[in-house]
Amino acid sequence: MLDRILARGEAGAGLSARELTQLLNLEDPAEQQALFDAAYRVKLRHVGPWVRLRGLIEMSNFCIRDCYYCGIRRSNRRINRFELSFDEILAAAKNALGFGYGSIVLQSGERSDPDFVEFIESVTAAICALPGCAGITLSCGEQTMETYRRWRRAGAERYLLRIESSNPRIFRSIHPADASFDDRVAALHRLRECDYQVGTGVMIGLPGQSGADLADDIEFFHRLDIDMIGMGPWLPHHDAPLRDVEPETPERARKRFELGLRMIACTRLQLQDVNIASTTALQALAPRGRELGLLAGANVIMPNAGGIEHRADYTLYDNKPGLDENASETRLALEQSIAEIGEKIAYDVAGTSPHYLKRQSSQEKQPSPEPRIGD
Ligand code: 5AD
Repeated sequence: MLDRILARGEAGAGLSARELTQLLNLEDPAEQQALFDAAYRVKLRHVGPWVRLRGLIEMSNFCIRDCYYCGIRRSNRRINRFELSFDEILAAAKNALGFGYGSIVLQSGERSDPDFVEFIESVTAAICALPGCAGITLSCGEQTMETYRRWRRAGAERYLLRIESSNPRIFRSIHPADASFDDRVAALHRLRECDYQVGTGVMIGLPGQSGADLADDIEFFHRLDIDMIGMGPWLPHHDAPLRDVEPETPERARKRFELGLRMIACTRLQLQDVNIASTTALQALAPRGRELGLLAGANVIMPNAGGIEHRADYTLYDNKPGLDENASETRLALEQSIAEIGEKIAYDVAGTSPHYLKRQSSQEKQPSPEPRIGD
């Protein structure tokens, strides 16, 4: 029974929500391993044993949002707010490109004031002009069409905006009233309209979230024809109210970790050729978490490429790993741990999502208007 589902998933036949739910709820270690192995083979078929790296620069923790799960939420007065200067960001980007990371992710808390919009625009343009820069991803929250356009014109090609949960009820339970599920979906549509490679994702193991909800999340990624996925287990933060809804226990942490791996594997089976990140949240729960994510079907890692001065001020959740590991140490450690699992780092590449490339080339052959995502 399980073998048949996995074989169909591996062949890219598309699994039903019920089948995905069944896979997401697997607990038996041998059955989980069979799921990871099937997803791993699908990954090998599409991208090989190559890990694509993105140098992550955490630019600022100022944020206008007050998400119940996040450590840098607006109302958290107990963190030191910081913003890197233009020169600091550029220096971190040069350093990351010097490491051969090829592609840079610029992430910050959300702001939409004119100064911020202009700052991101100019820093994006400056990084784009650096030798060796093969792609910039922005992760700066919900913005207007005009802002997304400006940043796209400045040279950003990819954008990450997690839906956090595709179930509107769960979305509402983890956000205050000023965050709207429909607005977030609309922002994802705008990104596609502006011709970004669009990335989204969810938190895994949220209070009140079931295997069936996660299966629906995968269906959401599919429906929106998403190019890149970044997702990881939800982790409590001591100053964020969601931690009180479901106090942490070692058993719960272990379960969310395993569920995180199964979610990666199921997403790989269902979406096949997208880029999937093995995120730091996995590493926060297990020292080799990100490597296990790669073995369950992920193919991207986003090593921190910024300085360590502000690391601790950018803690979205407790136990963020690598707080005192500088960018060179991170790179060395990654090289070693990736070699240990028999994979290789793809240096100096853009690492564009194969899914995006296929969509582009099919549009060139067929110059009919691009269907809007969600249609
Ligand atoms: N646990 C796990 N992930 C979190 N994020 C924010 N806070 C947490 C948390 N407590 C994730 C969100 C956000 C991304 C930048 O970080 O999914 O989109």
